[in-house]
Amino acid sequence: SGPLRTHAAARGKFIGFAAATNPLANEAAYRTIAQTEFSQITAENAMKWDSTEPSDNSWNFSGADQIVNFAVANNQQVHGHTLVWHQQTPGWVQGLGATAMRTAIQDHVSTLVGRYANNAAVVSWDVVNEVFNEDGTFRSSFWYNTLGQSYIADAFRWARAADPDARLCINDYNVEGINAKSTAMYNLVQSLRAQNVPVDCVGFQGHLATQYGFPSDLQQNMQRFAALGVQVRVTELDIRIQMPRSSAKDTTQATYYSNVINACNAVTACAGVTIWGFTDKYSWVPDTFPSEGAALIYDENYQQKPSYTAVHNALAGG
Ligand code: G3I
Repeated sequence: SGPLRTHAAARGKFIGFAAATNPLANEAAYRTIAQTEFSQITAENAMKWDSTEPSDNSWNFSGADQIVNFAVANNQQVHGHTLVWHQQTPGWVQGLGATAMRTAIQDHVSTLVGRYANNAAVVSWDVVNEVFNEDGTFRSSFWYNTLGQSYIADAFRWARAADPDARLCINDYNVEGINAKSTAMYNLVQSLRAQNVPVDCVGFQGHLATQYGFPSDLQQNMQRFAALGVQVRVTELDIRIQMPRSSAKDTTQATYYSNVINACNAVTACAGVTIWGFTDKYSWVPDTFPSEGAALIYDENYQQKPSYTAVHNALAGG
């Protein structure tokens, strides 16, 4: 018994969720679980570039402030997501030439990070997100195609200047296990830190699927990053199944959730785990993978699933 956040805190870890602004404002059941169970919040969409700066130097902080205010009221940490990503970035940015694009990144990072620099709840940021292809080469995004890899170091330096106390992360998916992509990330983090670029943290998104198997070297992978001197965290955990649900699939999913929590528990440098939502009522999965879903720890009616019990017991046990 007892909420997830109590057991995570006893281990010195956070347990978080990605918040959608609409139910956070409008649904009491959503709000109650959000404040009772979790000690950390990431904005699912509200802090992205298209939400915060839809046109040049025209800012909308309503969703971001809503989430930060909720976190302050409930003694929760906020992880800012995300400053420089190739998705949900407005067209006006994508079409800029190199000099103007560099200025746009600096303005965006300085203004957004600077807004919350003195807010004690906002403690960390995803500075760059998803910069790699699966084979470990750099993704040919409009950032990379216009600026080369220099934008990565620049973004970290501008974020550090805007909030010297924030923990600055690089974040990606399919980097949970040891593979070409995670090794490229490892090499980049090592090389950036050798150049005194302020990379403090590595985020493993953790968008897993029961049909693809569990990355059994997750703990080992976290440990090798920790040895570089960075904090690690699981930033966007969800574990989708092929629909429909069955008790066998729920059980497999629950085991995967336990495995992730156990890996973080076992690695001192792992700060915590953020689940990408909590109720199957609100999840990106069915929109992207039409035959898949039920990836979270509460069902659509806010009932706890076996995966909730798995997270609870992994945090509480031993
Ligand atoms: O807000 C508009 C709404 O006005 C419009 O009517 C509706 C019609 O499609 O779209 C709404 O925007 C959607 C937005 O979520 C807010 O709900 C976008 O279409 C939709 O594409 C967007 O999806 C988000 C996705 O990132 C975009 O790439 C998901 O909610 C969000 O969970 C997902 O999160 C990402 C992380 O940021 C990075 N890692 C992967 C992860 C999953 O894709």
